Amino acid sequence: MKIAILPGDGIGPEIVEQAVKVLNVLGESFEMETAPVGGAGYEASGHPLPEATLKLALEADAVLFGAVGDWKYDTLDRPLRPEQAILGLRKNLKLFANLRPAILYPELAGASTLKPEVVSGLDILIIRELTGDIYFGQPRGVRECPDGPFKGEREGFDTMRYAESEIRRIAHVAFQSAQKRSKRLTSVDKANVLETFQFWKDIVTDVHKEYPDVALDHMYVDNAAMQLVRAPKRFDVIVTGNMFGDILSDQASMLTGSIGMLPSASLDANNKGLYEPSHGSAPDIAGKNLANPLATILSAAMMLRYSLNKAEQADRIENAVKKVLAQGLRTADIYEEGTTKVGTGEMGQAVVNALS
Ligand code: IPM
Ligand code: MG
Repeated sequence: MKIAILPGDGIGPEIVEQAVKVLNVLGESFEMETAPVGGAGYEASGHPLPEATLKLALEADAVLFGAVGDWKYDTLDRPLRPEQAILGLRKNLKLFANLRPAILYPELAGASTLKPEVVSGLDILIIRELTGDIYFGQPRGVRECPDGPFKGEREGFDTMRYAESEIRRIAHVAFQSAQKRSKRLTSVDKANVLETFQFWKDIVTDVHKEYPDVALDHMYVDNAAMQLVRAPKRFDVIVTGNMFGDILSDQASMLTGSIGMLPSASLDANNKGLYEPSHGSAPDIAGKNLANPLATILSAAMMLRYSLNKAEQADRIENAVKKVLAQGLRTADIYEEGTTKVGTGEMGQAVVNALS
């Protein structure tokens, strides 16, 4: 089994290094090949997603991705910016289903900014559609406004759109995920204002006929944002579009106290996937041995479960992470008084030790 390792920028290389260390002690024979992506791709060959990197990702059985982005690339033309690498990988690998769990480990209940009773035991799965919506809709750009009150002025514009088959396939992923959990699914839309999301709602409602054992409800995205902080435990599985999912998944991650703990999986129709921490490249702390590697290590666990058919190994890693938390080890982002502050490398090593 071949894993493409794409560390990227900022803290990407140091957190991915820890996840690779963990994969290496499982006693499996993975073939791992590393390639530059994001700003590192741009430095190496003038493009955030170099051809050889894309080829490796396409060939591999799974991709382990760190993070991309750095302020120093903010002035580049949009197609050359690091973020284009992840968007290009999602599009080229047809990774339409993004799974973002938000789980609060009991040991970290105090790390959340919400009251412990509101978040303790939180276990939500956000399923975000990842290759459609306003992210990829055409046309887009800046043009001279063709009509209306702003005619003749410059305007920026994007296109929000979803094809029926795109909604159906993500709805199936969501209903099937809900079947494996507590059989509750909330579809988040903005059907009161947007045609795209009235259509979304209608199609999700239609797909529901095939899953009578799942309780489906619909919620407007503004209300969902409110409920996520008011009573987040009312949710189990949430399914939504690319744009709303981007926003709500960041919000949900903070309920757990640290985005540094949250993995994610982006899957195609055959469960090939790209696995990355939910957080970004944090260039401000890069190379300082401060970053939390657990989200990346947990992403490697998701990779074993979803793409490599190694559920037992995934369990082993997740249990090892629980063990190091129970031992009181904390990186700076989840540190509280009375616990032991450790760096990126020490945290990775602690997980390795807990595995052996
Ligand atoms: C995410 C990120 C990306 C997104 C950016 C980096 C393009 O915010 O994965 O949530 O908007 O999808
Ligand atoms: Mg985001």
